[in-house]
Amino acid sequence: MTDLRSDTVTQPTEGMLKAMFEAASGDDVYQEDPSVNELQEYTAQITGMEASLFMPSGCMANLTALYILGRRGNEVICHPLSHIMQHELASPAVIAGVLLTPVPGERGIITAEGIMPFIRRPDPLSSHTSLVSIENTANMAGGTCYDEPALQELRKLTEQEGIYLHMDGARAFNAAEAAGLSVGQMAGYVDSLTLCLSKGLGAPAGSMLCGKKEFIKEARRVRKLLGGGMRQAGYYAAAGLYALKHHTRRLAEDHLHARIIGEAVSQSSWGSLAAEPVETNIVIASVHRKSTEAVLQALKHLGVLAGPAGRNAVRFVTHLGLDRGMIDQASEIIKTLNI
Ligand SMILES: Cc1ncc(COP(=O)(O)O)c(C=O)c1O
Repeated sequence: MTDLRSDTVTQPTEGMLKAMFEAASGDDVYQEDPSVNELQEYTAQITGMEASLFMPSGCMANLTALYILGRRGNEVICHPLSHIMQHELASPAVIAGVLLTPVPGERGIITAEGIMPFIRRPDPLSSHTSLVSIENTANMAGGTCYDEPALQELRKLTEQEGIYLHMDGARAFNAAEAAGLSVGQMAGYVDSLTLCLSKGLGAPAGSMLCGKKEFIKEARRVRKLLGGGMRQAGYYAAAGLYALKHHTRRLAEDHLHARIIGEAVSQSSWGSLAAEPVETNIVIASVHRKSTEAVLQALKHLGVLAGPAGRNAVRFVTHLGLDRGMIDQASEIIKTLNI
C-alpha cells in the first residue's frame, strides 16, 4: 500500500528513534524535563518568538491560542475551510467560548481587504472581533500558502484594529519552503503560532505553540486546564527536536512528489485538480460523476490509499515515508484509474 491519506501516518526514522532512546527526561509539569526545555528554547530561537511550549497536539495548541487571545464571548475570523472550523469538533465554541466568523478567500487564503468588512468593533449589542486565525499551509484548500505581502497586509490591519493574529502553522515549514520565506520571517507577522512536529516533519506526536513570554506563561496554565500537562515528555520532545533539525530541509522532495501526483490527477478521467498549481505536499482532487467513496475504494483496491476531502473530493498527501518509486507507481494508478 502507498499511504497518501495524510502526512500524520509517518513512522519515526532510525535517527529519530535513537534520539528518543537516548533522551534525558524529567517531570515536565514541574518544568524539569531537559529535552522538553531544550525543544522549547530551540523552537523560540528558530521562530524568533520570545517563547514556546510543547503541546500534545495541534488541536490543543490552536485551542489554547483561541482560549487566550480569542477572549471568551468574542469573535475569531477564519477561513470556512480552516481546521479550527472544520475539524476541531467545535472546541473553539465549546471550550474557548468564541464565535468563529468564516470569511471566504481564494484558495483558502483570507486577505486584509476580504476580512475588513467583518471586523466588529466593540458596541453594546454585538460581540466584537478579537482575533484573526490564518492557516498556513491551508490544508483543505490544497496546501496553499500565504505570500509575504499578504502577511504584511494582515499584520497592518490587525495592528490598526487592535486585534490579534494567530497562524495555524501545522505545516508552516512546508509553507516556508514553498513561499521562499523562513518560518522566522512568517512568525514575525503574527502574535501566536502553532507548529506541528507530527506532520511533514515526521515526529510521532506533538506540536509547538509560540508567542510572547506572557502568552506562553498563560498557555502553560491553559494546557493544564485542558488536561495537556505531560510528565516524562522528553522522549517525544527528543523526536521533535530531531525532526526540526533533520527533517525540514527535505520538504522540497515531498512538494515535488505532490506535483507528480497532481499531474496524474490532471491527466485522469475521474477527477481534476481543485487547486492549481500544487504548492506544497497536499493535492485535492475534485471527483467527477462517481462518489468520493467509490474513488477511494477503487484506488485502495489497486494499492493506493487516499482520504476524503468533503463530498466530492479526495486528498493525497506526500510525506517522508514515500520514495520516488512509490510515487511514480501511485501516479500511474491514479492516472489510469478507470471507474
Ligand atoms: C491545518 C491543521 N491544523 C491543526 C491540525 C491538528 O493537529 P493534531 O492532529 O496534532 O491535533 C491539523 C491536523 O491535521 C491540521 O491539518
